[in-house]
Amino acid sequence: MAKRFLICGACGFIGSSFAKHLWLKYPDSEITVVDVLTYAGSLDNLRELHTESRLQFLEADICDVGALPKLEDIQFDLVVNFAAETHVDRSLYYTSEFVRTNVLGTDSLLSFCRKTDSPMLQISTDEVYGPARENETFSEAAPLNPSSPYAASKASADLLVLAAIKTFGQKAAIARTSNNYGPRQFPEKLIPYFMYLARQGKPLPVYGDGKQQRSWLYVDDFCSALLRVVDDFPKGEILNIGAAREYANLEVVRRLTASLECEALVNHVADRPAHDRCYRIDSRKFEQRYGAIDERDLTDGLRQTVAWYQSHPENFDRLRTQDAVSFRDKHYRNRT
Ligand code: NAD
Ligand code: DAU
Repeated sequence: MAKRFLICGACGFIGSSFAKHLWLKYPDSEITVVDVLTYAGSLDNLRELHTESRLQFLEADICDVGALPKLEDIQFDLVVNFAAETHVDRSLYYTSEFVRTNVLGTDSLLSFCRKTDSPMLQISTDEVYGPARENETFSEAAPLNPSSPYAASKASADLLVLAAIKTFGQKAAIARTSNNYGPRQFPEKLIPYFMYLARQGKPLPVYGDGKQQRSWLYVDDFCSALLRVVDDFPKGEILNIGAAREYANLEVVRRLTASLECEALVNHVADRPAHDRCYRIDSRKFEQRYGAIDERDLTDGLRQTVAWYQSHPENFDRLRTQDAVSFRDKHYRNRT
């Protein structure tokens, strides 16, 4: 029988890429998308799919998912939750929106999945473990130690998922990934934002000394890995699915500007509060069960990312909305 999938937050960066992977791997499947289209979501991200009859788009909030008549009593083969407020810097100013979507939204989706007996995969982040010391790598058993309101809201969501597994025997699992990059990321995040500024010859606001380390995974590589859990659902498990090594932000900026063939006009600005120095997660549990994460080299991935943004310059227009302008004004004005 054709599979039925519910993908929440599929108009955002990773969710849209995952929906495309799912679409291709399961050509008979029906995909329902629930997305409220915040500043970070756009139907353009699903352009190739959303006119197709086997994709149903519902513009709705995950907090209300249980009340959507079109979803009533549907048992999905898999529900994946990408819907979230995701920008760490925004969580400094709009904390309650992060709690509402990331915590209450996850709770609402868990209830829906229990009612319909649908397995649920929660997409989470390496940020829930907090900063890794030198030579420290976090397995799934590491304690939660979030630093920002964003990370705290994601850790809270993970705890709700784990509680539902223990309390109700719910069919649920958590995938924690590291920094994704690639096409269709909202251009307030480091890589597309710096591309936007560099194209105009403007200085690049590197927080603090720029030696903070992140593990960058090309979005298609993450989604290919994630696809493997669809037919072998890791019920009750947490799985780290991250990039193998980390790079200092200054090194990422250097490679990015080299791909853009422009000079890096680095401007060190005031650091992000509670800025974790390093994230490092251990993905061996995932790799032992599902095989190695097939990860492209960072320089190749950055070249592909640059090429995509160069052929889709309209993506930077998303920075012109009043909401985006007002966020940048608030956040960057006094940093220099
Ligand atoms: P994104 O910000 O690009 O997209 C989020 C999507 O969720 C948007 O389409 C938005 O409209 C939608 N959304 C927000 N609030 C909603 C609500 N209340 N109801 C319904 N839809 C809502 O996010 P992303 O970068 O694609 O991240 C997806 C998931 O992966 C998130 O859970 C994030 O925490 C996690 N994650 C992201 C990264 C990364 O590097 N981008 C790394 C680790 C984990
Ligand atoms: O680690 C996973 C996380 O990666 C996800 O959970 C988040 O949803 C996702 O947004 C991302 O968070 P980061 O804070 O790491 O992403 P961002 O692109 O905002 O920043 C990457 C690094 O670059 C971080 O160390 C902060 C730094 N930075 C960012 C911006 C926007 C700067 O130095 N200057 C900037 O202007």
